[in-house]
Amino acid sequence: MSGRPKVLLVDDEPLMRIPLEDRLRSTGYDVLAVATGEEALAAMHDGRFDVVVVDLKLPGIDGLEVLRGMKRGGCDADAIVITAYGTIGAAVEAMKLGARDFLTKPFETAALLSTIDRYLQVRAASRESAPSHDEPSQQTHGMVGRSAAMQRVFRLIDAVARTNATIIIQGETGTGKELVANAIHARSQRRDQPLIKVNCAAMPEALVESELFGAERGAFTGADRRRKGRFELAHGGTLFLDEIDEMPLLPQAKVLRAIQEGEFERLGGAETIRVDVRLIAATKVDLRKKVEAGGFREDLFYRLNVLPIEVPPLRAREDDVIALAEHFLATLCAEFGRAPKPLAPSTVAWLRAHSFPGNVRELKNLIARAVTLCDGDSVRVEHLGGSQPGPGSSGDLAAARRAAEDRRIEQALEAAGGNKTLAAQMLGISRKTLWEKLTRKPR
Ligand SMILES: Nc1ncnc2c1ncn2[C@@H]1O[C@H](COP(=O)(O)OP(=O)(O)OP(=O)(O)O)[C@@H](O)[C@H]1O
Ligand SMILES: [Mg+2]
Repeated sequence: MSGRPKVLLVDDEPLMRIPLEDRLRSTGYDVLAVATGEEALAAMHDGRFDVVVVDLKLPGIDGLEVLRGMKRGGCDADAIVITAYGTIGAAVEAMKLGARDFLTKPFETAALLSTIDRYLQVRAASRESAPSHDEPSQQTHGMVGRSAAMQRVFRLIDAVARTNATIIIQGETGTGKELVANAIHARSQRRDQPLIKVNCAAMPEALVESELFGAERGAFTGADRRRKGRFELAHGGTLFLDEIDEMPLLPQAKVLRAIQEGEFERLGGAETIRVDVRLIAATKVDLRKKVEAGGFREDLFYRLNVLPIEVPPLRAREDDVIALAEHFLATLCAEFGRAPKPLAPSTVAWLRAHSFPGNVRELKNLIARAVTLCDGDSVRVEHLGGSQPGPGSSGDLAAARRAAEDRRIEQALEAAGGNKTLAAQMLGISRKTLWEKLTRKPR
């Protein structure tokens, strides 16, 4: 970019457009302001812009269509979308089409200026760091992902982190849902407040309510003192309800009220507790289907489904496999105190051809095993324990069962703080069996 940053402003409302245009100009930008989507597309055809600010509701071609046109035309400007209050769905649609950010009307001009400035800074920074690398930015929030699919997820994380909206994260096992939840919390204004995690599948049904909402002394046998629930502990911060699809029907009504009104009573208590909690939920299954089957409350589903984030399975982002493998190899070598080493070319080919029903977790486990087995200068195929060629050859059912087992083991180890004896107890297996499972050959 030489000279002043170029901004295209698209808004049909003169009372909005003209003052904004003046402000942007006096800030030092080179501004072009137009009133229709048609003019916007024509302008982008003729010139380059750094930032495009577009109102979603326009006569004729609307804002979403402008974004589609930008994409088709290969325009790399950062798009910031302006939406009317209450059309968050359209904003999400816009993010999916590549918009960077959205502002809800009415907004302060200062908010728009600082948003524009932020993206200009990012552009300046990426220009400075870009030439040394031929790859686009691969890592955000501690997550590796250069595929278009993950880049979209990263954009959504950034966008939703600045809201207080309820988020639902959907994706297969091992795709990184928990990392997404961590990233949203870490980038939100609540980052200095607690992030409380609850796995709904791991709680015995009878305890769900007291776990979530707390209990007064004597509320049930064994309740020898007042206990705060997870909602209360998350006050001011974020509550992550993992595997929400596994939540029994009965407590769902209470969860709904807690999200909607921010209030509830402890089990056995009369006092109404008020909390300020941002909720993030995750599910492996299609919740809508579970609603249709009568296993999940429809009203809670709609309350949760405001901002869905879909984390794609690894097979839908082949571009990420090698980048992830290299990332795990580097971090795990360091963690295990091994010298850093590369993947042998044949290993790269093997990984590319392999399918990972357990997604990123499975890939990570595979690399972890290779790191412990590898004695040479590079990781070869035999270190992966894999001689089976190509995808799917090991049988999908067995693979899926194995993936589920690996996952339970990982969860137990995490819950046990890495203590294998304790983890084995939690899993109901012997320490020896656990050890065998941890060191067995990958599928
Ligand atoms: N994009 C990524 N970059 C780096 N590591 C990742 C990425 N995605 C997932 N991982 C790693 O893979 C493992 C599984 O991720 P995570 O626990 O977030 O998955 P999940 O979707 O919550 O799985 P489940 O549904 O089984 O609970 C973790 O060790 C995590 O650190
Ligand atoms: Mg998880």
